[in-house]
Amino acid sequence: MTSVTSVAAPVLAAAPLLKLRGVRKSYVTGDIETPVLKGIDLEIGRGEFVAIMGQSGSGKSTLMNILGCLDTPTSGEYSLDGHEVATLRDDDLARVRNRTIGFVFQGFNLLKRMPLIDNVALPLLYAGLDRAQSRTRAQVRLEQTGLGPYAFRLPNQISGGQQQRVAISRALVNDPPLILADEPTGNLDTQTSVEILNLFTELNRSQGITLLVVTHEPDVARHANRLVRLKDGLVTYDGPVEDAHL
Ligand SMILES: Nc1ncnc2c1ncn2[C@@H]1O[C@H](COP(=O)(O)OP(=O)(O)O)[C@@H](O)[C@H]1O
Ligand SMILES: [Mg+2]
Repeated sequence: MTSVTSVAAPVLAAAPLLKLRGVRKSYVTGDIETPVLKGIDLEIGRGEFVAIMGQSGSGKSTLMNILGCLDTPTSGEYSLDGHEVATLRDDDLARVRNRTIGFVFQGFNLLKRMPLIDNVALPLLYAGLDRAQSRTRAQVRLEQTGLGPYAFRLPNQISGGQQQRVAISRALVNDPPLILADEPTGNLDTQTSVEILNLFTELNRSQGITLLVVTHEPDVARHANRLVRLKDGLVTYDGPVEDAHL
């Protein structure tokens, strides 16, 4: 088994942030095995802004769940920030995941009874910071996404676009190098989607945050630099967005 200390070797500093080799995923229901990912090879470097497109059912969320270490491949290899994920023990995996990845979902996933500042602070509380320190850092992130004055409102007291900005603040609060966003504008109108994408673009350009964004919408994908298209569990395009004829 690869030890966790060996992966900190400087030689791996240039390793891609994410690397998938021959990743397959099947779901088994009763006697029926359904292949969903059929051999995915993908490397994503630090600072990239990648859009993932594909029809409903093509395996986009399955891929994102594997990349986010929320699910495991049936076969193939995945390394995250130089760590071979399959070799990590549960607590090491949780640590690598918490340090490396911020998640943004279509449905925002905010806790309804908690003020925005505490929603944003939650990952820091899990990481062991005390409440005051966590709130201070959460407030900084809320200000960065334009929500500073709303810190003590509840999620239902702000708009959908603002709720998604809260979720992005929460994803950023641990300073992860990577954000995984699965259809982050799926519940938002066009104008609000543009604002969210402008925020992502700003985070990518000014802070070098690596972004993977699943979307159905060509207008969303055009904000990225690179497009990965999935069809029936395989990558059918991987290249510059401007060459993809969106
Ligand atoms: N937990 C699961 N159990 C069984 N089948 C699943 C599960 N999750 C997804 N699937 C199936 O895998 C396929 C791909 O799903 P998904 O990755 O959610 O696609 P997408 O996000 O591109 O719409 C679909 O046919 C879906 O029904
Ligand atoms: Mg999906």
